[in-house]
Amino acid sequence: MNRSDFPILQETVHGRPLVYLDNAATSQKPQQVLDAIVEAYSTWNSNIHRGVHHLSQVATMHHEEARKVVAQFIHAREPEEIVFTKGTTDAINALAFSFGEACIDEGDEVIVSGLEHHSNIVPWQMVCERKKAVLKHIPLREDLTLDLEAFKGMLNARTKIVSVAHVSNVLGTIQPVEEIIRLAHEKNIPVCIDGAQSVPHMKVDVQALDCDFLAFSGHKMYGPTGIGVLYGKREWLDKLPPHEGGGEMINHVRWEGTTYNELPYKFEAGTPNFVGSYGLQKAIEYMQSVGLETIEAHERELTEYCERRLGESKGVKVYAAGQPKVGVISFNAYNGGELIHPFDIGTLLDQQGVAVRTGHHCAEPLIDELGVPGTVRVSFGLYNDKKDVDAFIAALKKALTILSSRA
Ligand code: ALA
Repeated sequence: MNRSDFPILQETVHGRPLVYLDNAATSQKPQQVLDAIVEAYSTWNSNIHRGVHHLSQVATMHHEEARKVVAQFIHAREPEEIVFTKGTTDAINALAFSFGEACIDEGDEVIVSGLEHHSNIVPWQMVCERKKAVLKHIPLREDLTLDLEAFKGMLNARTKIVSVAHVSNVLGTIQPVEEIIRLAHEKNIPVCIDGAQSVPHMKVDVQALDCDFLAFSGHKMYGPTGIGVLYGKREWLDKLPPHEGGGEMINHVRWEGTTYNELPYKFEAGTPNFVGSYGLQKAIEYMQSVGLETIEAHERELTEYCERRLGESKGVKVYAAGQPKVGVISFNAYNGGELIHPFDIGTLLDQQGVAVRTGHHCAEPLIDELGVPGTVRVSFGLYNDKKDVDAFIAALKKALTILSSRA
């Protein structure tokens, strides 16, 4: 599907054709996005919201048009609910700081889940330390699904916010965010969704979900690095304070004090990444030209096919096996009951041109729960196909043969 739009896929690695299966870490970029970046710097680069001159106005127009495209893409009520950030991590940090300042006090509680990326743990830990609040996590059942009964019991008058991943970056499993949002809202508790691994792969509608916040990154969805989004319902963004000061986030600055700009500028201190927002717009338009449903169906088929084929290799354990997954599979391999270290598998795959991620995937609490030092993770993008899976499986079999014979 549309592979020829992605120049990097023609590259070779160690003399082998590149098989890129590390899309959960970052996706490759189509020519349309690469061209947009060159166009921006070549023809209209200028600082935005600051100049009456022509180029500044063109750049401002592009940045604000990109905001509208993002708002439509996730079905926000209005573009002002879209804050551009550096990425998911930056978005959650911004929210945690701002929400923490306004809404979290000593003894309050914040709930995340047992399978979060560090980006949805550490910012909340930091705010809880600052405010002497308590960070709790929804436990996992044995099958690695979230224990919603336990979650129900955790919600109380001290719970100030719930923040959970939509799709696990390690397991690829889809979390029951609709139910989590419903249960939290019954107690008037807002919910933030970490959409880093869902927005690139499936239709995410913030009004249908009724989430209060959503964070995601451009670089995982065929856009440039350094651009991401914090969506927030206006009623929340209006009452939260800015997390950073400087630049266009002000209304007036006087020695006596500063008044802040309207949404969304209040949360965009400094020169915004207007080339990144333009690239993200082009990436969204690219995804829309392929079709979100087509992308989702294609990646689902590929993931199921890959999981089936992994079952062919003796000693391979897939985590959350048999559960629906969104473009991500984690596994480990054993030789006579002994774990083969994921780094060794990753290294031998790399030598055959296959790029996967190995290690803790920035989700150490989940990896600890699995009781292993890490996993091997394959993750798909819209340009991957069954030939990539076949090449990966052939390379894996070879790697396992080498590693088993050494043991
Ligand atoms: N968050 C990215 C990953 O899971 C980097 O690989």
